[in-house]
Formats: sequence, C-alpha cells, structure tokens
Amino acid sequence: MTPEDVLAELTALQSGDVPTHGGATMAYVYDSGVPGLDDLAAGAQAAYQWTNALDPTAFPSVARIENDLVGAAAALLGGGAGTVGTLTSGGTESCLLAVLAARERWRRRGLPGRPRLLLPVTAHAAFRKAAHLFDLEVADVPVDPVTCRAQPAAVAGLLDERAALVVVSAPSYPHGVLDPVGEVAALAAAAGVPCHVDACIGGWVLPFLDDVPERFDLSVPGVTSLSADLHKYGYAPKGVSVLLVADPELRQAHWFATADWPGYPVVNPTLAGTRPAGPMAAAWAVHRLLGVDGYRTLARRARGATEALAGGIGAIDGLRVVGTPVSTLVAVAQDGPDGVDVLTLADEMTARGWLLQPQPPFAQPGGADLPATVHLTVTAATAGRVDALLADLRDAARAAAALPRPVADPGLLAAAATLDPAALTVAEVDALLELAGVGGGRLPARMAPVHALVAALPRPLAERLLAGVLDLVYRPAAVER
Ligand SMILES: Cc1ncc(COP(=O)(O)O)c(C=O)c1O
Repeated sequence: MTPEDVLAELTALQSGDVPTHGGATMAYVYDSGVPGLDDLAAGAQAAYQWTNALDPTAFPSVARIENDLVGAAAALLGGGAGTVGTLTSGGTESCLLAVLAARERWRRRGLPGRPRLLLPVTAHAAFRKAAHLFDLEVADVPVDPVTCRAQPAAVAGLLDERAALVVVSAPSYPHGVLDPVGEVAALAAAAGVPCHVDACIGGWVLPFLDDVPERFDLSVPGVTSLSADLHKYGYAPKGVSVLLVADPELRQAHWFATADWPGYPVVNPTLAGTRPAGPMAAAWAVHRLLGVDGYRTLARRARGATEALAGGIGAIDGLRVVGTPVSTLVAVAQDGPDGVDVLTLADEMTARGWLLQPQPPFAQPGGADLPATVHLTVTAATAGRVDALLADLRDAARAAAALPRPVADPGLLAAAATLDPAALTVAEVDALLELAGVGGGRLPARMAPVHALVAALPRPLAERLLAGVLDLVYRPAAVER
C-alpha cells in the first residue's frame, strides 16, 4: 500500500468515532479551539516519536523538557523549594505513583497489618486501581450528599496507624466540586499521614480563576503530593500528566532501581520502562505556545461557559445542578421525585449529537446515597455553543420526561442474585450480556436500561459484566494466512 492509502484507511476507520473537536463530546477529550495548536503538537510529537525517555543521559533534551514542565507546574500549583516531580503517562499513572510512594513510606515504618488508603467515594477510580495493584485496603470516606464534598469528620475517624495516604480532589471528576483540602490536609498532617491532592482535571484550570473558594494546592500545609494532567486542560495530546511531590524523599519512594540483573542498570521513575517522549514534547510545545496568559484565557472561557450552562440547566424543569461546581465540570441530576430521568436524558442528548457521560446512582458505604447524574466536561471549544447546548438540553428533557423510566428487569435481577460472579465463565458472561441487551459487545442506542440494570446489580457482578462487554469488544481480527 502507499502511505496515502494507509492514511485514508485510518481516516475511514475513524468515521464511527465520536468527534474529538468542536466541543460536543463532553468527556474524554479537551479541545482548546486555538488555531495552530494541533499542528504544533503534532510537529513536536513527530520530532520526538522515536526518542526514548527511558534514559535521560542519552537524551538530555527529554530531561530538560521534563524539568521545564515540572517546574512550570510547581510554580503554578504552590510548589516550594523542595518540590520535585515526574512526568507520567496520564492521570491514572500519577495517582498510582502517589499511592505507591505513600505505601513505601508506610512500609518503612515497620508497622504490622495492611496499609490503608483513605478515599472519598468521589475520588477517581484510579485510586481504587492503585489500592488493588499495590495491596492497600480502601477505607471509604463518605461525602456530604448535598455538596458531594468529602467529610473531614469521617477522615478524622480513620486516621490511625494503618493510614498510609489520604486523598482529596480538586475538583472531583463525578461532580466537579472541591473537597475541603485545607481541613483534611491539616488533619492528616497532625496524624503524620501524607495527603495527595488529585488535581488531574483541575490543575491547569483552577490556578487561573479568581473565584476558587479555597486554596487547594501544595501551598496548603499538609499537602504532600499533587497530580495535574497536561493531556486534559493542559491541552496536550494524550499521554502526559505531572505528579508533583513536596520532597525528594517521597518522590524516590515511587522510583524503582535495580542492578540485580546482567543488563543495563535500571532506574525507572514511572511504571513504564521505555517511555514515549512524543507526548512530553507535545505538552512542552503547547505550554510554550500558550504560556500563562493563554492558559488563563482558555480557563476563563471554559469557566464562563460552565457558569452559563449551570445557570441554564438550573432553569430547566425537572433538572438540577449537583453541588457547587468550582471549575469546568457540571453534574446534572433529576430534580424532585417527578423530575427528569437523567440516564434517559443522556440518551436523548446522544441522539442530538452530544456526548454527555451518564453516572449511575451510588449507594455510599456508611453514608447517604448519591443520585444518578450526567457529567459534562466543558472545554474552551464548547464556549461558543452554550446556547445550542442549552436548547438541546431543554428539548431532550421534554422528550425524556415523556418516556417511561428505565427499570432493571426484575427477572434478570432475581436470576443475578443467585450467581457467584467469580465462578462465571466467559461464555456464561456472554450469555448474560445477550439477555441484558448488550450481546456481541454492541451497545444499544438506548443505554439507560443498561445503566439501570448495572446500578441495580450487586457490584461484583456488575463489574464482571462490564469486563465482559470489553471482552467482547476486544476480539482479535481474523488472522490472515
Ligand atoms: C480527577 C481525576 N483523576 C484522575 C483521572 C484519571 O486520568 P486518566 O484518564 O488520564 O488516567 C481523571 C480522569 O478524568 C480525573 O478526572
């Protein structure tokens, strides 16, 4: 094939994907709308696509790129003289490494038992993954059911010898609200426990806004690490985040070094061995292009759009905005018992060309239940489309109100109650998915009934079925012989 043919084939493959640009996909993607930014990022990425950031002594320019970006993040996010950091592959890896460092620190104390991760239920799922991978026990911190902010009193009750790390979000992904960072960090510091601020989604927005209600960064006493993703509101292509750490000892705790093999000496600051330098170089280039002023303009544009959106949604019958969004995320819930079902609303919006992310209702361990919501990530590219979005939301809310509410099939639920998820085979999971309407890994146009079912199932079974969907999606293409 010619290179042109190959590229044409790729472009054709993309025709079934949701758009990455234009502001209608309100999760997963971050469009600055800045002319020339994409080309610059692509150029920088191309210049570094073969470079291996595994060894910064062979490629000193990647150390320079990393130091520049970590320094810029530290300056923006309250870093001090001892602040150091690492570029990672994304938010999840930054969160994983923060937990790993805290676990290593805890282990050095030689205490008995298993370390615990004090985790507000609204903290990103990446922390549950970290607990799973690094063998920590999650201690759930309930959030206030109205504000959706972590409850400091619950943190205080969990700060014992086994506490290895406390997490707070700035803001939380599900609801876009700011946890009480100062209060929680002070409690953690008094107990000698590190505190991580997950600013993966707010780190390149909040510092540029005037109306953030309280401090949330490394300048807050007791905060020991902070994550901020460049591939979100840093408007860099996928694959790059910053983990800042208040002191070099804690950073080394997530590094891995070995001379215990006959090959080259290994020191890995992240989970990867070979590290792609392309996303780092692209982030560096975008950062140089935008500068502080560029980021401020984009953050304020997205924030203005978020406020307009939140105001408009509050005026739609049957819908309400959850909590007080401080940044550029909005969560919308049903208003009152007769309000609009938001899972159906999400389907109606999909039909109108928008991707809003459905979030199922959640029963908090030890706390009041949280309602189903739809999540909207607002970027600068959505700013010019707020009126159109609100018009479609009004229309979709009317349409959703006229439809029956999604209910989980009682027969399926009764059958599910008898199942042991751990004992199910892949074939049995496939058969259950067929019954649930997601056979063959093809999602139906209307997802509300599926979400209602997932929310009603026992969590281990829901997780097994969700993995089953992915298992069906990822089936290798037939081998050509
Ligand atoms: C607050 C927060 N933390 C962590 C993550 C995980 O980031 P990633 O998807 O880049 O791994 C996200 C992603 O949305 C997030 O919003």
